Amino acid sequence: MLNDIEKVLISEEELEASVAEIGRRISEDYRDKDPIFVGVLKGCFIFMADLMRHVDIKCSMDFMAVSSYSGTSSTGAVKINKDLSEDIEGRHIIIVEDILDSGMTLSYLKGYLMNRRPASISIATLMDKPSRRKADVYADYSCFEVPDAFVVGYGLDYNEHYRNLPYIGILKSEIYN
Ligand code: IMP
Ligand code: MG
Repeated sequence: MLNDIEKVLISEEELEASVAEIGRRISEDYRDKDPIFVGVLKGCFIFMADLMRHVDIKCSMDFMAVSSYSGTSSTGAVKINKDLSEDIEGRHIIIVEDILDSGMTLSYLKGYLMNRRPASISIATLMDKPSRRKADVYADYSCFEVPDAFVVGYGLDYNEHYRNLPYIGILKSEIYN
């Protein structure tokens, strides 16, 4: 285990099982709806890659990049760094996120995409930290509910590091203090 990690919160095996289950549920719910999965970069990249291999229906994928964070605390401001390349009017959208924390990012993103008149928007998140919620937004699909600790790995970073860890870990507090 990497020396900067205090402990493993979610193991590779637990990730694999839960992501597969969410993939199956989405496939049942969206059969014949040809949804567009919209990944929120960069944090979604491993979750989305694993999730999509458990989705066995006709669908497409697109990506957005937003920034709202520097270090460990949310500023509330959301900037769109990369927008969608597909037209979403009349389409079913599934936003794929790494973690739902204050909810400020997804609340903004949902409103932003809603203006383009999609048929529906739902949210699939790897992790949910409900204790930190500020915006009125919830996950339709969530793999894990996690406590209020800063987590890294499986796509999630601290100042762009640790995204490559195959598990979700809690960072040692001396790393960000
Ligand atoms: P929100 O707008 O507060 O919900 O923040 C969402 C974004 O903040 C996520 O997409 C992550 O990129 C980042 N974030 C929130 N909590 C964590 C964490 O514990 N570890 C790493 N990134 C986090
Ligand atoms: Mg991030």
